[in-house]
Amino acid sequence: MRKPHFPCKILITAGPTHEHLDPVRFITNSSTGTIGYELARCAQERGHKVVLISGPSHLEAPKGVKTVRVTSARQMKREVDRYFPASQCIICAAAVSDFRPARFHAKKNKKTEADTVVRLIKNPDILLSLGRKKKGRILVGFALETDNLLKNSREKLERKNLDLIIANKISLQDSPFGRGRFNYLLIDRQGRDERNGITKTALAGIILDRLEKICYVMLYLYILKGGMT
Ligand code: C5P
Repeated sequence: MRKPHFPCKILITAGPTHEHLDPVRFITNSSTGTIGYELARCAQERGHKVVLISGPSHLEAPKGVKTVRVTSARQMKREVDRYFPASQCIICAAAVSDFRPARFHAKKNKKTEADTVVRLIKNPDILLSLGRKKKGRILVGFALETDNLLKNSREKLERKNLDLIIANKISLQDSPFGRGRFNYLLIDRQGRDERNGITKTALAGIILDRLEKICYVMLYLYILKGGMT
């Protein structure tokens, strides 16, 4: 396994979040956590120090990776904020639920004959909040879009202040969840790169290659700047 010249501290989020209505029912997003876990395993094997913050997933924690299990978006944010200051790179691969029920019922809601309305309120956008305070850190996000893939992903790269975004298309016929071969668009500040028919294991390697390259460029610029002052 290839080792990087400069091992980094990498924080990764993975999996869905569960936003409970009561102890039994919750709303969530489709996600198995595969890409986040592949990234954590691959980064650890390359010699990086990895912390994985995972929503509910059946996947086994990668060997040697500090894995913190959470349930909700708010719990995920709390753990991300805890590890963020000591991290140099953050990869947000989690499919965080954008909304949560306004009220949590400690006891299971009884089924009634009448229809029920559930009021949803916004969850914090973890990646957006990191983008606002990232300073010299490298930030990577994902975008799952039903249309205007390039335009929407570029807009997200800017709005969330990211260094790299990995985009792929979703439709009812074409689902990118779990294992298989998928098409991805990698967009950074230099341009874009299309990768078709690749596995999530291969994608994890490609993302880490990019990340390491950005690290070297940033380190080079930092040394250059230091040399000039
Ligand atoms: O805006 P959108 O949800 O499409 O952005 C997706 C990216 O933002 C992913 O990298 C995801 O992990 C992250 N995200 C987050 N917190 C949220 C929603 C999305 O970190 N509440």
